[in-house]
Amino acid sequence: MRKIRMGMVGGGKGAFIGAIHRIAAQLDNQIELVCGAFSSDADNAVASGKALYLDEERCYRSYQDMFAKEAKLGDDKRMDMVAIVTPNHLHFPVAKMALEHGFHVMSDKPATIDLAQTLALQGIIEQTGLLYGLTHTYTGYPMVKEAKARIEQGQLGKIKKVVVEYPQGWLANKSDEDNKQAAWRLDPKKSGISCCIGDIGIHAANLAEYVTGLAITDICADLSSSVAGRVLDDDSTVLLRFNSGAQGTLQASQISVGEENSLKLRVYGETASIEWSQLEPNSLWMKYSNKPSHLIRAGVGKMDAVTQANMRTPAGHPEGYLEAFANIYTQFSYQIRNRLFTDTSDINEAAMKDVPGIESAIRGMAFIENVVAASQSELKWHKFSLEPQSITIPSSHTNIRNKA
Ligand SMILES: NC(=O)c1ccc[n+]([C@@H]2O[C@H](COP(=O)([O-])OP(=O)(O)OC[C@H]3O[C@@H](n4cnc5c(N)ncnc54)[C@H](O)[C@@H]3O)[C@@H](O)[C@H]2O)c1
Repeated sequence: MRKIRMGMVGGGKGAFIGAIHRIAAQLDNQIELVCGAFSSDADNAVASGKALYLDEERCYRSYQDMFAKEAKLGDDKRMDMVAIVTPNHLHFPVAKMALEHGFHVMSDKPATIDLAQTLALQGIIEQTGLLYGLTHTYTGYPMVKEAKARIEQGQLGKIKKVVVEYPQGWLANKSDEDNKQAAWRLDPKKSGISCCIGDIGIHAANLAEYVTGLAITDICADLSSSVAGRVLDDDSTVLLRFNSGAQGTLQASQISVGEENSLKLRVYGETASIEWSQLEPNSLWMKYSNKPSHLIRAGVGKMDAVTQANMRTPAGHPEGYLEAFANIYTQFSYQIRNRLFTDTSDINEAAMKDVPGIESAIRGMAFIENVVAASQSELKWHKFSLEPQSITIPSSHTNIRNKA
């Protein structure tokens, strides 16, 4: 038995999410970072690896170089998996090359730049038989898992309504675009067909489907931008219908001034409802029509076995974003360990399988394309489809309702 060896593409000095992935991957001592191609700039890539005290020979100048060289290393050294934390347009070429060189993939969302690429990726995953995980971070929170378990157990009765919102304010004005994270997210060539829906609406949709176990079937959407010169959306309002007949609303925004990452989910059933908010992630409210509301706190009382397998600290010692990310990595590392070694006695099987994979990737990319298509359509409702939508990447404001 040994740790799972990980390489990283992206996440160099000055990047946002790469550092979070590194902390998360290594939190439970199941994974070690052994190499990387950390930046589009070769010198920065090497400097970023050296700043992490990696072996200089394994601080690669490009991901192409990394996959070619790592594939030639012996079993005692070669990385097992790669974490992809680049802008969206590189997720597919990097994942493809990784799989073709024999490495498991953990990718950040959205899986690729469009649905056609994700479907192609599915084919490569099937061909290679390798593992693929997607960091839909919010599914990693213990109280999100507890909400899912309680809905599965029927504690809410039949689900009637799902309300999910993800407001942020960091792209409210033109002056907010002066950083690298904004620059590529607002560029269709690097971001894809959508900014706001592709960046955070996709998380909200994934959370709604994950917790309820329902599938979105119909969409009515209104995307817009309120900043002059933007070709991609920065605000959205979406109506949803689910396969059970439940209805829902999804609101994602990057122009809601003063909002942080205020992701919130409410699910209303026939007999009870639940409410979870990322700003209070260790709390889960259950509400009833005929008795007082009930606050469930992480670690207090008996939790579902999957929830339990994703918690580390006793009640009142709060876990948060880093630990939610870490849960995805640790469970994924168990999937790899399960293939490499025979001792799997400490692994909770259901928790191990509860990592977003290629199916979530496909539904996520389909969600982005269906929402953009719905927003561009004159019809009120658009059928959710797992086929690529014919949408042209905008080159001017004409494809979104621009309020500027
Ligand atoms: N799961 C989440 O909660 C979450 C949160 C934030 C971002 N993300 C996703 O993570 C990804 C990265 O976002 P970010 O905000 O960290 O972006 P960023 O701009 O801060 O970082 C991107 C990094 O990729 C590197 N890069 C670009 N081209 C490269 C190449 N050819 N080879 C190697 N590295 C290259 C850049 O140099 C930079 O270091 C995006 O896909 C985004 O959607 C997910």
